[in-house]
Amino acid sequence: MSSVSDDHDIEYLDARGDCRVGVDPRSQKRSSHVASRPMRPVKLGPISVPTPVVLSPMAGVTNWPFRVICEEYGPDGLYVAEMITARALVARNPKALRLCRFAPSENVRSLQLYGVNPAIVEQAARIVVDEHMADHVDLNFGCPVPKVTRRGGGSALPWKTDLFAEIISRVVRVCEPADIPVTAKIRVGIDHEHETFLEAGRLAQDEGCAAVTLHARTTAEYYGGHSDWTRIAQLKQALDIPVFGNGDIWGADDALAMVEQTGCDGVAIGRGCQGRPWLFADIKHAFAGSAERCNPTLGEVCRVIMRHAELLTEFYDGDERMAVHDLRKHIAWYLKGFPVGGATRKSFMECESLDDVRCQIDRLDPSVRFPERVVDKPRGRVRFAKKVHLPYGWLDSRTTTHQERETLFGDDPMDASY
Ligand SMILES: Cc1cc2nc3c(=O)[nH]c(=O)nc-3n(C[C@H](O)[C@H](O)[C@H](O)COP(=O)(O)O)c2cc1C
Repeated sequence: MSSVSDDHDIEYLDARGDCRVGVDPRSQKRSSHVASRPMRPVKLGPISVPTPVVLSPMAGVTNWPFRVICEEYGPDGLYVAEMITARALVARNPKALRLCRFAPSENVRSLQLYGVNPAIVEQAARIVVDEHMADHVDLNFGCPVPKVTRRGGGSALPWKTDLFAEIISRVVRVCEPADIPVTAKIRVGIDHEHETFLEAGRLAQDEGCAAVTLHARTTAEYYGGHSDWTRIAQLKQALDIPVFGNGDIWGADDALAMVEQTGCDGVAIGRGCQGRPWLFADIKHAFAGSAERCNPTLGEVCRVIMRHAELLTEFYDGDERMAVHDLRKHIAWYLKGFPVGGATRKSFMECESLDDVRCQIDRLDPSVRFPERVVDKPRGRVRFAKKVHLPYGWLDSRTTTHQERETLFGDDPMDASY
């Protein structure tokens, strides 16, 4: 179970470059309330995204039950499934196949693939196309977790331009005839001495990507500090395809500010919607020039919790125990900031069935208002990486040697998760 603290402290670098923990003074700067220009729909091949907001893929979070709830609040964004390891899909791993499922109500079936071996990623894309599994394929080049980067995957991969271009071009070649747009999700680079985003963005465009999403942190920054939106502006300037900006959008005003400051075509939301799926309604309103925002009462939040529990039960083929275990982290996020005591929170964490969840919900006061102090504040992971893990000699050259490829592809991970 992820533990979620109830404060807003994050790790950030102060003006002298020292690492501090607390409320980053820069976070108070961002605020604007009206869109200064109308947001246009973003076209990804045949897909139009009328409100250019993306639910950023999050492993263990963005399975179809959560996507459905987000989409109910913001019906015309793009809701991406969590990353699926190409090799696991090719091996028909049941866990991977479960993650490829979509609800009938989902407008666009958007799936993210991760892999290091171009041949395997291509095979996975072939399965997606041949079995009509999705309408959109995103490629993960942003994952910073050690078990992924130490194999040259995720955010380590764009450093090797040959591998990066080959994966994209192979997947595009498979998806294009089926009219399935391919997009790439990248970071700024491995660290500030090894930045790749401009080159990666251009390569992605040249190889046929329909859009690029930039999480404006380096691998080394992990989830600490701030997403540097100036990098999003730079990428937008450099590319002709749409650019989605990502990182540190905690409320609709942040989404407006990112668009204003960077000129990006749309925004991608990760941690900000954890326990707050209504953020998609807020952003839809904000992009349409409305100041309307949802700050649901505890009663409404509990309605969402219960619905989430029921959908997860469907996701796990009726297994309530698995559903409520999966729900635990979400409950912690949903209740963040509400005056719900430690004992009640603990009881929620001990639920084993839908009835248990219902029983805990019945003990709460539905009229409690949304806690002001957590509105639009950071949530979820906020730490720097302790160390970036890369394959031996990875940074020595920008392209892969034959030897490197042999070593990498020999043990492609079956089950890389965040
Ligand atoms: C729990 C968690 C899981 C994530 N899983 C994925 C993933 O599967 N694929 C991916 O491209 N990014 C993943 N990310 C990164 C997010 O999509 C997003 O880029 C990042 O959180 C920055 O956006 P934010 O500041 O809005 O959270 C994950 C992030 C978190 C916190």
